[in-house]
Amino acid sequence: MSGVKSTRAWFKQHVNDPFVKRAQLEGQRSRAGFKLAEIQEKYRILRPGMVVVELGAAPGSWTQLLAKQLGTNGLLVAVDRSPMQSVPQAIILQGDIESDSMINDLSAVLAGRAVNWVISDCSPDLTGTTTTDALRTLHLAQSVVALADELLPQGAGLLLKAFQGAGFSVFLQSIKEKYDKVRVVKPKASRAQSREVYILASGYKGKL
Ligand SMILES: C[S@@+](CC[C@H](N)C(=O)[O-])C[C@H]1O[C@@H](n2cnc3c(N)ncnc32)[C@H](O)[C@@H]1O
Repeated sequence: MSGVKSTRAWFKQHVNDPFVKRAQLEGQRSRAGFKLAEIQEKYRILRPGMVVVELGAAPGSWTQLLAKQLGTNGLLVAVDRSPMQSVPQAIILQGDIESDSMINDLSAVLAGRAVNWVISDCSPDLTGTTTTDALRTLHLAQSVVALADELLPQGAGLLLKAFQGAGFSVFLQSIKEKYDKVRVVKPKASRAQSREVYILASGYKGKL
């Protein structure tokens, strides 16, 4: 498909997408919120008072949902390299999760509170070239796992977006070695033709 045709096809699919329509009606920042809502409904991973570090948070529909779930006693730190509008009860950090300073910035904000979940919807800018995109995506997902290694105490959890394709099964195996229970989840709100999935890993074994 030519670039123009594929952009048109994407636009047509976008305007007809029931989750896009629902997000607009409900005033959500993006359709992405429904994916986390589905995961929460099924697996009940979030509770009031929890401490969550969210990576790849802009424009912020997951942040809105997380802030609601954690309530006033929780702590939510939302990170994105792009600027995003504030969300009540969330601390927003603008920065690159792959930068050397990110762990220090996060530790300063967390001020010693133990993190219950690292939650990532991070995805890189895609080029349209399958191999390059698969490599970029995998690299970013590995950075998320490395950051979680620095932040999580034993028993805590990690939810992250990944793409099925080259390197996925080895990547998944590496997560299984670090966490007691690992599921691959495909929410209904994630487009069926997309290779996007979420890895839900609980029971962090601690830095090996
Ligand atoms: C699909 S969007 C997230 C949507 C979000 N969950 C929501 O509900 O609005 C992916 C985000 O990952 C961010 N991202 C990608 N690479 C990043 C990096 N290295 N550091 C920080 N954010 C990054 C992008 O800027 C983008 O905002």
